[in-house]
Amino acid sequence: MSAVGRYQHLFTPLRLGPVTARNRIVFCAHLTNYAQDGRPTAQHAAYYAARAAGGAGLIITEEHSTHITDWPYEKLIHGFDPHVIDGYRAITDAVHAHDVPILAQINHNGGQASSMYSRLPVWAPSPVPDPLFREVPKELEQHEIDDVVAGYATVAGHCRDGGFDGVELQCSHSSIVRGFLSPATNLRTDGYGGPLEHRARLLLEIVAAVREALGPDRALGVRICGDELLEGGTTIDEAVAVARMVEASGHVDYINTSIGVATATLFMIEASMQVPPGYALYIPSAIREAVSLPVVGVGRFKDPLQADRALRDGHCDLVGVVRGQIADADFAAKARAGHAEEIRTCLSCNQECVGRMGLNRWLGCIENPRTGREAQPLPPRRGPRRRVLVVGGGPGGLQAAVTAAERGHAVTLVERGPVLGGQVAVAASVPSRAEFLDLTRNLAARARRLEVDVRLETEADADALRAAAPDALVLATGAVPSRPWWAGDVARVIDVRDVLEGRAAPEGVVVVVDELGFHQATSVAELLADRGCAVEIVTPAMVVGQDLGITLDLETFNVKAHHLGIAQSTDLVVMGAAAREDGGVELTLQHHPTGTDQGRSCDWVVCAVQQRADDALWHALRGAPFPVHRVGDCLAPRRAHAAVVEGERVAVCLG
Ligand SMILES: Cc1cc2nc3c(=O)[nH]c(=O)nc-3n(C[C@H](O)[C@H](O)[C@H](O)COP(=O)(O)O)c2cc1C
Ligand code: SF4
Repeated sequence: MSAVGRYQHLFTPLRLGPVTARNRIVFCAHLTNYAQDGRPTAQHAAYYAARAAGGAGLIITEEHSTHITDWPYEKLIHGFDPHVIDGYRAITDAVHAHDVPILAQINHNGGQASSMYSRLPVWAPSPVPDPLFREVPKELEQHEIDDVVAGYATVAGHCRDGGFDGVELQCSHSSIVRGFLSPATNLRTDGYGGPLEHRARLLLEIVAAVREALGPDRALGVRICGDELLEGGTTIDEAVAVARMVEASGHVDYINTSIGVATATLFMIEASMQVPPGYALYIPSAIREAVSLPVVGVGRFKDPLQADRALRDGHCDLVGVVRGQIADADFAAKARAGHAEEIRTCLSCNQECVGRMGLNRWLGCIENPRTGREAQPLPPRRGPRRRVLVVGGGPGGLQAAVTAAERGHAVTLVERGPVLGGQVAVAASVPSRAEFLDLTRNLAARARRLEVDVRLETEADADALRAAAPDALVLATGAVPSRPWWAGDVARVIDVRDVLEGRAAPEGVVVVVDELGFHQATSVAELLADRGCAVEIVTPAMVVGQDLGITLDLETFNVKAHHLGIAQSTDLVVMGAAAREDGGVELTLQHHPTGTDQGRSCDWVVCAVQQRADDALWHALRGAPFPVHRVGDCLAPRRAHAAVVEGERVAVCLG
């Protein structure tokens, strides 16, 4: 069966009013932080163009602010400033070159913001502080409501002048319109508050004004939050009623959907691998039953078959594939060509996309070092084809091997273990983290297709490597657990990897020491609690698993920790460990804010602490008659993305 035949629904065109999407795969709106001084950049144009070239049916840009009072984060595009139009034109020209329509998402974030950047009070229907920003907003007066509506129309005009095929109104997870729609944030008693018809008035006024500004030949979409997941907030029944009103306006061409509130339940909007795929489908499903406008369904679509099934089963008319296309710009083209197995499937790890947004950095992807760098293509190979030997089959070694092979070098990769993956395979072996393995599975599949000579269970010692005399050697030998200073020779103080790699099986009362603030401690705690251990995590930080906050894994971990009875103790530094007579451990902890000591008596201590570079080969090969490079943890132990980026960089440097 042809690929298009296999995906009977995905690759059919669809009209959205005056615009036709060539297939059902939408690259929905997402912040990139590529803007500079409120304006779009060449980084945006190249980024969107790559997804258009990669086969997306429709592109919707990140949000553009409609009003000067709306500036919740630094790198927001100031759509209200007419100087954006040149940048808009650069984006739309780049995308239209691939015959793909592109819409701009326009928005006012309302009370889901702070006055830090704008130095103006934030505007909202009622003075209800947002749970994240905790700032009391100014309740809008009628003239300000009129100003908001006019702002949307002005920005729609800028979008039209900049060549966009239309606009989408963000009325979903972070928006003044959502604020008005939601009974949780709209406490007004005038014509904009109370019954749903009143709460929807601002939306309908904006819809009418934007349609007038756009004219009939541009598309207009409305993105609705189907379920705020908040006490007293919008539920699916009200969302369906809003969709009906939107359709009845006669001005709108499609409805997009979303779930949750960005400043309260973001972990459901950009759900990590802890949340099952298809979790948000009930929203487009219910809306689609109520309206005849095309409806977009979004949320963890990772592979084309799953997306096609959602269309086939009538849940939606289009599928939003956001992180799937951040990870692989060619997602649609590969599916269409019948090469779905070549898609670099998104891991839903949130580490370099969502996570970097929280850190005010530009958007990237853990497994795609090209994401965000589309404007700077790799230089072509300069030198001759070289024989490249890579030692280590983790993410850094695999990426180096793949990039080197793509550049035409003859690559051999040796791995001492029986499988590829390195620490990625270890990290993926715990509950709810299996998708992380896709990182190295995807790379290993590419290595196979590129005919990299992969040799498993092959120990590479310095003499053998010198004898092999490659034209270039890349060491990706990883890191090894390091013993904390306080552990001495206490036998039952072990490393997370001892547990996950099966060298130890703690039982009874276990203290997990979290000095990394990431998945290591929480994963092993979950695993051991699942096995029946009584687990407590102690950390010197203010929260356990601190960095899980930015990958949106903290909420799901806390739910599971509560369920499994995992205790969490913060602000505690380990000061010493002593063996009990029965083999157990007495731990001494200092509560650093007060300087007071406390103790724990347990059967085992499992450490999630910084590792040590495994750089023995590097030192043994000093003075080798060929160039030797190091990538990833054997250079300095960090997270997987560093290894992937360095793997690519080193392979490019080979010539
Ligand atoms: C980094 C990032 C930023 C996002 N910013 C926006 C935004 O500005 N407007 C919006 O409507 N949705 C935004 N979203 C939500 C996405 O449109 C989409 O609903 C979500 O990522 C789920 O789709 P996925 O599982 O295919 O990634 C963002 C998503 C990501 C990953
Ligand atoms: S960083 Fe992770 S979640 Fe984000 S696009 Fe890449 S693989 Fe997907």
